[in-house]
Parts: sequence; C-alpha cells; structure tokens
Amino acid sequence: MSSEPLLATVATAKPASLAPVPPAPAPTFAPVLTAMVYTRDRDAEGVIRQCLTNLLPSAEFISGTVVNAIKQLAQRSSPRLLIVDVTGSGDPVAQIRSLAEVCEPGTGVIVIGDSNDIRLYRELRRAGIVDYFFKPLVTTLVTQAASGILTGTVEQHASRTGRLVIVLGVRGGVGATTIATSAAWYMAEKRQRRVALLDLDLYAGDAALQLDAAPTHALCEALEHPERVDELFLERAIIHVTERLSLLSSLENLNSPMVLGEESVLSLLDKLLRAYRYVFVDLPAEMAYRLPRVLHIPGICLLVSGPSLVSARDVARWREIIGPGSAERQILHILNKNGAPGGLPSAEFLRAASQAPDITIPYDHNIAVASSLGVKGVLGCATLQHGLAPLFSLMAGEAEEAPHSLFNRTLNRLLRRA
Ligand SMILES: Nc1ncnc2c1ncn2[C@@H]1O[C@H](COP(=O)(O)OP(=O)(O)OP(=O)(O)O)[C@@H](O)[C@H]1O
Ligand SMILES: [Mg+2]
Repeated sequence: MSSEPLLATVATAKPASLAPVPPAPAPTFAPVLTAMVYTRDRDAEGVIRQCLTNLLPSAEFISGTVVNAIKQLAQRSSPRLLIVDVTGSGDPVAQIRSLAEVCEPGTGVIVIGDSNDIRLYRELRRAGIVDYFFKPLVTTLVTQAASGILTGTVEQHASRTGRLVIVLGVRGGVGATTIATSAAWYMAEKRQRRVALLDLDLYAGDAALQLDAAPTHALCEALEHPERVDELFLERAIIHVTERLSLLSSLENLNSPMVLGEESVLSLLDKLLRAYRYVFVDLPAEMAYRLPRVLHIPGICLLVSGPSLVSARDVARWREIIGPGSAERQILHILNKNGAPGGLPSAEFLRAASQAPDITIPYDHNIAVASSLGVKGVLGCATLQHGLAPLFSLMAGEAEEAPHSLFNRTLNRLLRRA
C-alpha cells in the first residue's frame, strides 16, 4: 500500500471546492518536511547531518535512543522522517513496534544500530520501518532512504496505516455512540494517539453532541462527491475536538435522505487511515447493511447490543453477515446495559446470542444521566470505565496486564501484530 502521507501534498493542493466548510482551524498536522534524529552516537550523527543537509532546511537532533523517541512522540506530532538508534537495545523489534503505536502512520522511520543481522532487518521491515542500517553508516544509502521518505517515493509497509475500529450498534439505542465516543476520546486523550471518529449516523449528529462539537455538512459533501475530497478539504472539514481527536459528523435534514455509496465510504476511510493511528466508525445497523465491504476491512469490529431478546438475536444475525473473525479482523461483542429492565437473564441471553459476550457493561442509570454532560461526564462513571477497561487495554496493546483468558491472550497476540 502506498504510504504517501496526508500532509505531504497539503502545501500544494488545490483549494477544496466543497462548501460550506467550517472556518479553517489551526493546523494540527506536522509540517510537510520535518525530520527528527535520535542518537547518542557522534559519528552516526555526523553522517546523518551530512545526508540531510541537501534534503531539507533543518532537522532536529536529539541525544537519545528509540526509548526517548517513544516517550517524546507520544506527546507531540510526528515528523515526516524519523531516524532512531537502537544500539544497545535488548529487543529492538518490540521497541520499534511501540514506536509505531505512538507515531502517525505517515511518518517514515529509518532505524540505525550496531547489529549486522538479516533476521533483525526483516523483522524491523515487517514492523513497518522503511530501512535499517548498521554502523558505520554509509552516506549514500542513508541519503537515498531519507530522500525517498521526504519526497514520498518509498513504499512503506502496510502496517504503517492506522487501525480501524468499527462500532456497530446491532439496533438503535444500545449505546454504540456512547462506546464509540468514549473509546475514541480515551485513545486520544489518555493514550496520546492521533484518532479520528467518523460518525456515519448522518442524521443524528450524536457523536458531535457527546464531544461538545458542532456537526457540519462537510461529511455528507465528502460522501456525495468523493472525487472532490483532497487533503486540504479533509483538513478543513474535520472538526478538531482536541489536538489529537478529530471528528467527522453531520446533522442532515431528515427530509433530504442521501444515498450512501460504499465506494465513497471506502475512499474516505482509506484517506483517514493514512493519517490517523486509530479511526473509529460509529456505524448504525441501518447504515451497516449497505456497507458489506467496509465490514470486512481488517481491524476491530465491535458489535454492541443491549440485553434484550431481540438484541441477542441481532448479534447472532450480524455474526452471520460479518463471518468469523480472523487474525486481521477481530469481532468482539459488547453486551451493554446488562441488567436493564426487560433484559434477559445471562443464561437465556447466551442461548439466544449463541455465544457469550466478550465484554459486559452493566446498566447504570448514572451513565444515562451523565450523557448530558458529554463524553467526559460519561467516562467519569465507574461502571463504564470499568466495563470498557479490557477494551482500552487491548487497544493500547496492554493485554498482558489483563486476566489471562484465552480470549485476552489471543487478542494480545493479534494486536501486537497490528
Ligand atoms: N451502560 C449503560 N447504562 C445506562 N445507560 C446507558 C448505558 N450505555 C448507554 N446508555 C444510555 O443509553 C442512551 C443511548 O445511548 P447511545 O446514544 O450511545 O446509543 P446508540 O446505540 O448510539 O443509539 P442510536 O441508535 O440512537 O444511535 C443514552 O442516553 C446513553 O447515555
Ligand atoms: Mg448512536
């Protein structure tokens, strides 16, 4: 998959012709040509300085290793080119995977080290890096790789795209938006990942309401005219909820139904996945029926249900439509509002849904009350926090801290591959 980063073309892109769009907010993306270098090795630094001199006006050199890069990049936007030194690291591959978690997908990473080992090279490439060079560094090789990244001509590994999380409410009112906004907020604000939330409930604008933002018409414009969506349009159309959390949400007129083409959704997702570490989609059931291919994109699909008999049946039906999970596509069932009046007892629910839920969140009146305060109020509810904790851990790649069920172990392995 080509990895040309979203922002690579912003500076030269044609102005978007779609209107109306909200006033352009301060850009939160990294500048087009930036480079950061983490090494403590003076010789290596000297060679890299020489390589970068003709490629870009300036680069930031930090005396540190990949460990410092992971820490710092979790707190700030990533550069276009990142060079990290793994010399002395006990497990460079694990560290590069951690780095990939905090880096934006459009960042091209070059790793330098002191080990001349083809297996290490292959594993690092699989982890998504552009190239690995062992010391002493050769100027022409480093220059070539760095230039490829800065000009956008290198192909990066597919794993450098973001991770898709579809939150599919199997029927109305089960709590899909609450879960989608809470999880997106958590990953952006508590885990410092760059996150986009795409609200495909085009007539409700609920995600915007939860995030205390104003929905715009831009999302529908983008879906109706996918050919007009360029990087500049996206940058202007996206609602910047926080520095790391972006939202695409609309509140369309109920009397002007729009025909949603799957191609436009796929095209929009493709663009978002190149720019964000996580892309959450709040997907109502009536929209999901029209998007079978979207449901099969690699990532995580969360089937959210309530505790009623109809909800249980819907989960089983959606499982049939979506098919079994795989290494690339995990399907989790979240049973929300468990214990709500009218809900089935656990054994009966299990029988009707034919599989036990992966995550259960109890019914809590406080959640419904707190929803008027938006996502921060909802996340303040211990029931929801506790209920979503396994999901948060899994998404943040911390499943090893969760109880050692087969489910957790399997997911942990899969998530580490992402
Ligand atoms: N565990 C819970 N306990 C009690 N109330 C909850 C719980 N989860 C969500 N709610 C409440 O249920 C209501 C519906 O939630 P939400 O809007 O997230 O559902 P939805 O599936 O997105 O609905 P819609 O079909 O309208 O899009 C909200 O008032 C929310 O606060
Ligand atoms: Mg909703």
